[in-house]
Amino acid sequence: MPDPLRLGIAGLGTVGAGVIKIVQRKAAMLQARAGRPLSISAVCARNRDKDRGVRLDGYAWEDDPVALARRDDVDVFIELMGGADGPAKAATEAAIAAGKDVVTANKAMLAHHGQALALAAEERGRVIRFEAAVAGGIPVVKALTEGLAGNEIIRVMGVMNGTCNYILTRMEAAGLPYGDVFDEAAALGYLEADPTLDVGGIDAGHKLALLASIAFGTEVAFDAMELEGIERITIEDIKHAADMGFRVKLLGVAQMTGRGLEQRMSPCLVPAASPLGQLENATNMVVIEGDSVGQIVLRGAGAGEGPTASAVMGDIIDIARGTRLSTFGQPAASLKKPKTAKASVPAPYYLRMALQDKPGALARIAAALGDAGISIDRMRQYGHEDVTAPVLIVTHRTSRSALDEAMEGMEKTGVLTGRPVAIRIEDV
Ligand code: NAP
Ligand code: HSE
Repeated sequence: MPDPLRLGIAGLGTVGAGVIKIVQRKAAMLQARAGRPLSISAVCARNRDKDRGVRLDGYAWEDDPVALARRDDVDVFIELMGGADGPAKAATEAAIAAGKDVVTANKAMLAHHGQALALAAEERGRVIRFEAAVAGGIPVVKALTEGLAGNEIIRVMGVMNGTCNYILTRMEAAGLPYGDVFDEAAALGYLEADPTLDVGGIDAGHKLALLASIAFGTEVAFDAMELEGIERITIEDIKHAADMGFRVKLLGVAQMTGRGLEQRMSPCLVPAASPLGQLENATNMVVIEGDSVGQIVLRGAGAGEGPTASAVMGDIIDIARGTRLSTFGQPAASLKKPKTAKASVPAPYYLRMALQDKPGALARIAAALGDAGISIDRMRQYGHEDVTAPVLIVTHRTSRSALDEAMEGMEKTGVLTGRPVAIRIEDV
């Protein structure tokens, strides 16, 4: 009988408990597939007395994740606590220093420290695997690092935050304002402890930064990402979009352009009939375009106990089989520092603004757009409110820099009564 692969699991919440259930309930199947048994040596969480819906007897308990990571009877450290820094990072570093492989679901930690952790692991001949960190149960990291390794990747895009997709689709389906649906999402337990990670686009940005590193052979560059959340999207935006045949999505796009790596996570309009437009509720979708394969679409549950534990188990089984992959698909030392390009590919934009309802106001806005070289495709003034006139403009294709110039020009006209909302119309 081959030696078991011995696991140390830090974090016994949604994901940790899910992993333990699979290890306990599917032992024979896992052994057959991994070629050796999987065993849990020790576990760790903050509260030893909490009922987690799984049996923990038979496993050693550690209060300190760093101590767990260093245990002699642990081959693989499974980090399922979360947080970019603090105990997750300290214990991951300790595990690598102690010669352990690491499996983690922690996108925040890897988005901020992935390069340093990968270098440390690879210097010691260890692996860090993180399938669960991106799009939950969808095996997108594996798809990029393995199945698509023979492709030059053209573009990676997708909806990678289930909470935001739930909020946007629920607003449209129920005709409810953002605030009401945000409260619903909170009641359903969808929101992260810090909800700005979800609705501010940060969580999805972390995920996209990890995929971009694999796709383009570049160091993880989360700080260079253009980030915008969904907090300013109103039910009016969603209705206008629907009238024009679009849906609003928190869409991530990463592509290597002639000017450098473009990474953005922001609300976009996508055709309602497209696969991304059809994505409902908390489901995730990642679209990958490779030079040989063309376009592939991966869709599935981006969060939750089962889907996320499924991804963690895939990584553990790989390690048990002896599969040794570089963290980001190639040695970390060979990843290039990316040059950053800001939304350089031109696109049409949807603009919503409120103007003072007085003669010449609309003409001044049109002039600001014209001065920036932006041509108007459609324009509509609708539903006057007291002394303000809400206006909707759809531009022809323009660069983000021209749009920024136009927005500055609009600001200077003095006829705006608030900051306009600009949403890119993405060609998906
Ligand atoms: P969770 O339910 O909040 O569980 C976190 C666990 O970590 C808890 O058991 C907690 O202990 C433990 N913990 C926190 N700080 C600790 C410390 N200092 N020392 C020891 N244990 C500590 O979180 P989760 O939803 O399972 O998420 C875990 C990771 O998976 C995160 O990185 C998250 O971003 C990622 N992820 C989650 C999902 C999902 O659907 N939930 C999807 C993809 C990725 P106590 O239970 O005693 O408080
Ligand atoms: N808060 C995340 C989401 C959890 O809503 O998608 C999974 O990473």
